[in-house]
Amino acid sequence: MTVVDARRWRDLFAARAREDVGAGIVEILALAADTELIPFAGGFPDPQTFPAARAASLLDELAATGDLGAFQYAPTRGLPGTRDALQQRLETLQGRRPADDELLVTSGGIDGLELVSKSFLDREDTVVVEGPTYLGAIMAFRSFEAHVVAVPVDADGLDVDELAAALAGGLRPKLLYTIPDHQNPAGVSLAAERRTALVELARRYGFLVAEDVAYRELGFDGEALPSLWSLGPDVVVQLGTTSKTFFPGVRLGWAAGPDEVISQLVVAKQNTDQCASPLGQKLWEEYARRGAQDEQLVRSRALYRRRCERLLAALGRTMPETVSWTRPEGGFFSWLTLPDGTDAVAFARRAAAAGVAVVPGAPFFPDGRGTANLRLSYSKVEDDLIDDGVERLAALVREGAS
Ligand SMILES: Cc1ncc(COP(=O)(O)O)c(C=O)c1O
Repeated sequence: MTVVDARRWRDLFAARAREDVGAGIVEILALAADTELIPFAGGFPDPQTFPAARAASLLDELAATGDLGAFQYAPTRGLPGTRDALQQRLETLQGRRPADDELLVTSGGIDGLELVSKSFLDREDTVVVEGPTYLGAIMAFRSFEAHVVAVPVDADGLDVDELAAALAGGLRPKLLYTIPDHQNPAGVSLAAERRTALVELARRYGFLVAEDVAYRELGFDGEALPSLWSLGPDVVVQLGTTSKTFFPGVRLGWAAGPDEVISQLVVAKQNTDQCASPLGQKLWEEYARRGAQDEQLVRSRALYRRRCERLLAALGRTMPETVSWTRPEGGFFSWLTLPDGTDAVAFARRAAAAGVAVVPGAPFFPDGRGTANLRLSYSKVEDDLIDDGVERLAALVREGAS
């Protein structure tokens, strides 16, 4: 027996990799992949929004032009045409065009989080997040051994007064991570006055705001409040993704922020994956330039609005008064608060046994809160299954109460 055989590979893992950064997401993806269950678990876009035929014909076109740039390595900052299309889009939608050195094409939102974490976080550095927040972000920050602190969220998004009080009391984060539009998992958005106040706090206390805009373009009415990056381009790095508006398989997004920050992310990307997929960059660029992205967004918003309304109506009809939930105006999620003392993990197991996949709330907090919460994602549930799924959940709540 060799020395290596005699010990477990785990003993050789880096200490930071041995930390529990969240087996949670693995379980959630397992539930989301179970096609037998009514799928309120995964935050997946509905496949009917994917432009499969269009992507295939664009690919044919790219190959036919003889320009094989899409098949070659690209500059780390991204292909010039794709960067230009992104700059134009940000200017149109957010009123600010990033300068050339303020923009990086990424391989999606998670890549953006990884690059920011890799560039900024030393062991024990403090990162403030929303409580609750996107589980993938908690995992990314923890994988760099950061100390993750949650500031509560209410119906108007991050409680900026509470953040101000914590900062005044001595909290000194390097980074603050927020999802200001149709947040994952709570479905709430940051109120306009809180946006300006947050940018002011970042300037005053000298931390970087990482603004995740994954659901920004999916407001049901197509409107959006000013982005944090447009309000504070000196203190905000915006992390965008095309996963929810184009398709996640393309793995494509952007980071827009202060030039010095972007240059550092470029260095980090050079030894991560060197560049975002040039093939994906070209596909998205053509898709967006031809107006197809905006046409699809109209259909996607209508689809998700209809599903959300159906979910809220079903909850209103069936749930006892001891249960409350958020009322999203965009995005994929509503956040349920079960009766006091309910164990949401046990509830999620009972729900799976009753044929419904939901996600318990605790993994969305870094600190053990959320034990009586559930995240319900309506984005990928067929309309006629929404009522059935909610009725089964309501029956479980009633059983629990009796
Ligand atoms: C808030 C948020 N950010 C980022 C992502 C992941 O984005 P990407 O697929 O671009 O890595 C998700 C996906 O669920 C998300 O909800």
